Amino acid sequence: MFSDTLLEALRTAQKVVVFTGAGVSAESQIATFRDALVGLWANFNPEKLATLRGYKQDPALVWGWYEWRRMQVLLAQPNPAHLAIAQMTMRYPALTLITQNVDDLHERAGSTSVIHLHGSLHRPHCLACRRPHALPSGIPDEPEGGRRLAPPRCLHCGGPIRPGVVWFGENLPKAEWRAANKAAKDCDLFFSIGTSSLVHPVATLALEAAKHRACIVQINTQPTELDRVAHYNLVGKAGEILPALCREAFGLDVCAENETQ
Ligand code: OAD
Repeated sequence: MFSDTLLEALRTAQKVVVFTGAGVSAESQIATFRDALVGLWANFNPEKLATLRGYKQDPALVWGWYEWRRMQVLLAQPNPAHLAIAQMTMRYPALTLITQNVDDLHERAGSTSVIHLHGSLHRPHCLACRRPHALPSGIPDEPEGGRRLAPPRCLHCGGPIRPGVVWFGENLPKAEWRAANKAAKDCDLFFSIGTSSLVHPVATLALEAAKHRACIVQINTQPTELDRVAHYNLVGKAGEILPALCREAFGLDVCAENETQ
């Protein structure tokens, strides 16, 4: 199914970056952003829901929406793409996993030290003092799209709690961005999986890796901005392609290993 040169590149790589986007969680029934009809931004207004201005105008609308999204993640399970990536972590001691996703499905599949460039639904913080806020355990029960819900108040300063995700117009977390750039510049194999490669600056990571002579492997169901740069463009679902790739390159049987856990 895969070319010999691709399998050879996988087998000989030492420093590997796996960069993921919403497409990796799509097979766990977590919505992507830009897919026609089903993408979140096809159905909800990012100006209102993913900017600081939107939050300040209507905190209850925004907090309820993110609680709905958090609920969906808590009800979801990692899929074979997350599991295959966790398996690859064992195959390559020097693997850096960088994600734009704000869910925790990579971690729940067994990946550790995941670099979250766009923050996390599970780590809200105070808008005023920026201290982290612990969410109650349990799964919130939110209707489709969320209901208006006043955000909790900070236990330290009384400020409003905001979702722990990076919104449009905000800076990426500094340490994470530095680590991601360093890994991209230093790797010999770079996977770009399930991302439209439209959001900057994160989309520049693959370009940096290519500039530094890494082999770029893209996995996506659709054409993307990265098609012209990728050395291997694997078209299809990440949850099907990644386990097949692990099987052919390393003899790893991702799903079977998961079933025995
Ligand atoms: P997008 O929604 O822009 O792109 C998702 C990509 O996944 C598309 O290219 C799809 O073709 C692809 N895809 C869908 N299902 C797939 C599958 N089963 N296997 C492989 N690929 C699949 O999502 P991102 O690129 O992640 O920001 O978006 C980047 C950022 O934009 C997000 O992190 C988010 C958003 O605004 C924040 O939340 C801060």
